[in-house]
Amino acid sequence: MRGSLLVDHIGELVTNDGRDGDPLGVRRDAALLVEDGRVAWTGPARHAPAADRRVDAGGAAVLPGFVDSHAHLVFAGDRAAEFAARMAGEPYTGGGIRTTVGATRAASDDDLRATVGRLRAEMLRQGTTTAEIKSGYGLTVADEARSLRIAAEFTGDTTFLGAHVVPAEYADRPDDYVGMVCGPMLAAAAPYARWIDVFCERGAFDADHARAILACGQAAGLGVRLHANQLGPGPGVRLGVEMGAASVDHCTHLTDADIDALAGSDTVATLLPGAEFSTRSPYPDARRLLDAGVTVALATDCNPGSSYTSSMPFCVALAVREMRMTPAEAVWAATAGGAAALRRTDVGRLTPGARADLIVLDAPSHLHLAYRPGVPLIRQVLHNGVPR
Ligand code: NIG
Ligand code: FE
Repeated sequence: MRGSLLVDHIGELVTNDGRDGDPLGVRRDAALLVEDGRVAWTGPARHAPAADRRVDAGGAAVLPGFVDSHAHLVFAGDRAAEFAARMAGEPYTGGGIRTTVGATRAASDDDLRATVGRLRAEMLRQGTTTAEIKSGYGLTVADEARSLRIAAEFTGDTTFLGAHVVPAEYADRPDDYVGMVCGPMLAAAAPYARWIDVFCERGAFDADHARAILACGQAAGLGVRLHANQLGPGPGVRLGVEMGAASVDHCTHLTDADIDALAGSDTVATLLPGAEFSTRSPYPDARRLLDAGVTVALATDCNPGSSYTSSMPFCVALAVREMRMTPAEAVWAATAGGAAALRRTDVGRLTPGARADLIVLDAPSHLHLAYRPGVPLIRQVLHNGVPR
């Protein structure tokens, strides 16, 4: 949208500019000017410049839009029965991924596109203005390529997850599957992907396979991210750090050595509390990571198996209540943290030059995101400066 737009009467503006030792960079009684889809100015409301149009925040809190750096939106079918069985005591093993693979392969492009569109719209209504989207439920050359082609219609942050599990037809020859992922599948996927990811876990891919796949992806120009240490302790986190991953995700079972490795690196630890909620598992120890100086992000892990939520406010509330993050730490992790996990500097903050992706809360402060769990507090969303 052309012309300037002033967001005025902001009671609490979260900028994430990190000034004066306050990571959230909170300003009171503020205003924010949008020009050409970017933040052009922020400052005291009484100094607000004139603009072509105006949004009156009415004293409410304004935050950067959420950056959901981990979502599996390209799939078909649902696994509600698997969820019900878990709530009745069944453990989560990741085995249900193959059920979704079957449904995804059988779905038309239009059906997959409709599901991604529906979930992306659901995210936007809940304040998510940037979302990463993974493949990983196709697991053939053609189905991974089309999953990423469809994902790329919705985001620039597309992730090739051909190494999600070894599909049934390769069950007795995993080495052949890894060779296929690194060869024809990567070649078909790379034109539509920014990132490569591997589910490094017992029952999925071990460290040697994961290293080989990530190295091929890197050689093809993709950035590295990793599902690591979700179901038990393992080599994933240290492998991610060794390979310069932008992010290692889940981090539910960490040793001191894992924390030390993260603390001495640029790799973000992305925590996905929706998965622990929906698999009734112990939450990751966010305090230990934060106290060690690790950069922490929060994301939904939206997928039909382990975490079928698209709600970043829900994840913020879980992080505060269940993982002992402060509300400020959780809001930072869901915005600037997600941006760091995607190595993006244009989102996750509201400072001049950033994309004008913001949310107006139906509340006076960011504290309410955790204080009022389950309440639809997103009054208005601006995406690229356009009211949605
Ligand atoms: O991040 N852990 C691996 N992948 C997904 C779960 C996928 C599924 O159960 O369908 C996750 O939790
Ligand atoms: Fe995941």
